[in-house]
Amino acid sequence: MVQLPKIIQGGMGVGVSNWRLANAVSKLGQLGVVSGTALDQLFVRRLADGDEGGNMKRGLEAFPFPEMARRIWNDYFVPGGKAETAPYPNVPMHQRNSPRKLVELCMVSNFVEVFLAKEGHKNPVGINFLEKVQMPHLASIYGAMLAGAGYVLMGAGIPLHIPGVLDAFAAHHLAEYKLQVTGAVVGQDTFMRLNAADYAEGPLPLLHRPKFLAIVSSNTPATTMLRRASGRVDGLVIETPIAGGHNAPPRGKLQLNAAGEPVYGERDRVDIQELRTLGVPFWLAGGYGNAEKLREAVEQGAAGIQVGTAFAFSAESGMRRDLKQKLLAQAVHGEDIVFTDPLASPTGFPFKVAQLEDTGSAFPIYQQRKRVCDLGYLREAYAPSEGTIAYRCAAEPVDNYVAKGGSIEDTVGRKCLCNALMANVGHAQTRKDGKTEPPIITVGDDLNTIATFLAPGAESYTAEQVVQSLLSALPVHAAVPQERYLMATA
Ligand SMILES: Cc1cc2nc3c(=O)[nH]c(=O)nc-3n(C[C@H](O)[C@H](O)[C@H](O)COP(=O)(O)O)c2cc1C
Repeated sequence: MVQLPKIIQGGMGVGVSNWRLANAVSKLGQLGVVSGTALDQLFVRRLADGDEGGNMKRGLEAFPFPEMARRIWNDYFVPGGKAETAPYPNVPMHQRNSPRKLVELCMVSNFVEVFLAKEGHKNPVGINFLEKVQMPHLASIYGAMLAGAGYVLMGAGIPLHIPGVLDAFAAHHLAEYKLQVTGAVVGQDTFMRLNAADYAEGPLPLLHRPKFLAIVSSNTPATTMLRRASGRVDGLVIETPIAGGHNAPPRGKLQLNAAGEPVYGERDRVDIQELRTLGVPFWLAGGYGNAEKLREAVEQGAAGIQVGTAFAFSAESGMRRDLKQKLLAQAVHGEDIVFTDPLASPTGFPFKVAQLEDTGSAFPIYQQRKRVCDLGYLREAYAPSEGTIAYRCAAEPVDNYVAKGGSIEDTVGRKCLCNALMANVGHAQTRKDGKTEPPIITVGDDLNTIATFLAPGAESYTAEQVVQSLLSALPVHAAVPQERYLMATA
C-alpha cells in the first residue's frame, strides 16, 4: 500500500523550511520538505559562520564525490565564523551556463540539505523549488536526487518540464530545461543542459526518480500540468491565495482593493469536485493549518493538506528567533498585519508580507537600503540582441535596469527579496557602510491561528505539536483516499 502523507510541511524559502524542520516532520511520518531555493548561497553563509554543530561538515562527508566536497569546504569554511562586521563571500550569480564551480556548489548544497533532513529515520523527504527561479534547477535537482529526495515539489509557475528532468537524471541521461528568455527569437537555443557524467568524480550512483508534485492555484493549471507535463506528475498541491509566500496572480485583469491588494474572483475558485476526477492525489493548501480544515479536506477527497505558516513559526524552522517571537506575540493579540503586496516581488507575483516595524516592510527602513543586486536568483533572462542572453532584475538599481531595456514602471515598489530572505534566517549581508540587509517576512493570511499551537504560558511550539494538533480531528483509520490513488502513484 502506498502511504501518502496527510500533511505536507510546505517548502519555505529561503531556509525557513530547513533540514531540521523537514527532518522533524518526516520523522513523524508526514512529509517534511526542505526549501531548495538559494541553498548554494545559504550553504556558503553557514560555512562562513563557522558551521556550528558541524552539520554541514557531516553532510559534506556523505557526498559521493569527496574531492568536490573538500574543494567547497576549503573555499568557504571559516573556523570559528567570520567577524560579525565582515561581509559574506561573493558567490557568482546563476546564468544559463553557470561556471562549473557554481554548479558543483549547487549540487553539493542541495545534497547536504536533503541528506540531513533524512538522517535518523527512513521516511521520505521532499525538496521544494520555485519554477520562476530557473537557472539553478538542473544542478539543484541532481544534488537532491543524489541524496535520495523522495519528492520534488514545485510552484510559482507551471513546471511542465521538470518531470522529464527527473526521468533523465534517474536514467543517467543528459537533462535539458528551457530557460525562459524575454525577447528570444524563434529557434534561439535557450536550453540549459546538465550531463551528470561530466561532473562525476567516480561511478555514477544509482538514482531513484522522486515523485513529482506540482503546486498550482486552481483547476485550469492543474489540468494543464496533467495533460502537458514532460513526464509523470504524481500529485498536485492546490494552493489558494491565502497561503504564505508568493501567490498566483488573479486570473484576468489585475484589480486591487482599497488597501491595494489583488482581488481574487470567481475564476480563481477551486472546484474540488472536479479535482477528484483528475486521477491523482491532491493536497489543499492556503489557510488549511488547523485540525478541522484537514478533516474537511480529507472528507472532500483530498489526500491531505500542505501547511506553511504554522510550521514557519515552530522551534525547528530556520526563521530568526526574535522575528518568530515578535510575530507570535502579534498573533496572540490577533491584529491583522498581513499585506498581499502586488509589487514587492521581482517575479511580478503577489507576495504576502507581515507588516512588522524594524523590517523591510516598513517604508522608512526599506527606503534606507541602497539598491543592489548581488544574489540574482530572481533575475529575468532577456535577449538584448539576436542570439545573446543577458540578465536583469526589477529590484536592481533603476538606471541599470532601464539601461538593460527594462521599463521604469516595473521598478516601482520592487524589493530585493533575495537579500531580505537571507536576512530572515539570520544570514543578512553586511554592507561596506556597516549596514545590514533588512528582513522581510512572508506569512499566510491566517497568521493569527499560530497562537493556537502555543500551550498555556509557552512562548514557542514544536513541529511535533503542529502535526499532532492537525491530526487530532481525523478518525483513527482515515486512510480511504490513499487506496483510491494506488494506480497513479505506484
Ligand atoms: C515563510 C514562507 C515561505 C514560503 N516559501 C515558499 C517557497 O519557497 N516555495 C513554495 O512553493 N511555497 C512557499 N511558501 C508556501 C508554503 O509552502 C505553503 O504552501 C503555504 O504556506 C500554505 O499556506 P499557509 O501558509 O496558509 O499554511 C511559503 C510560505 C511561507 C509561510
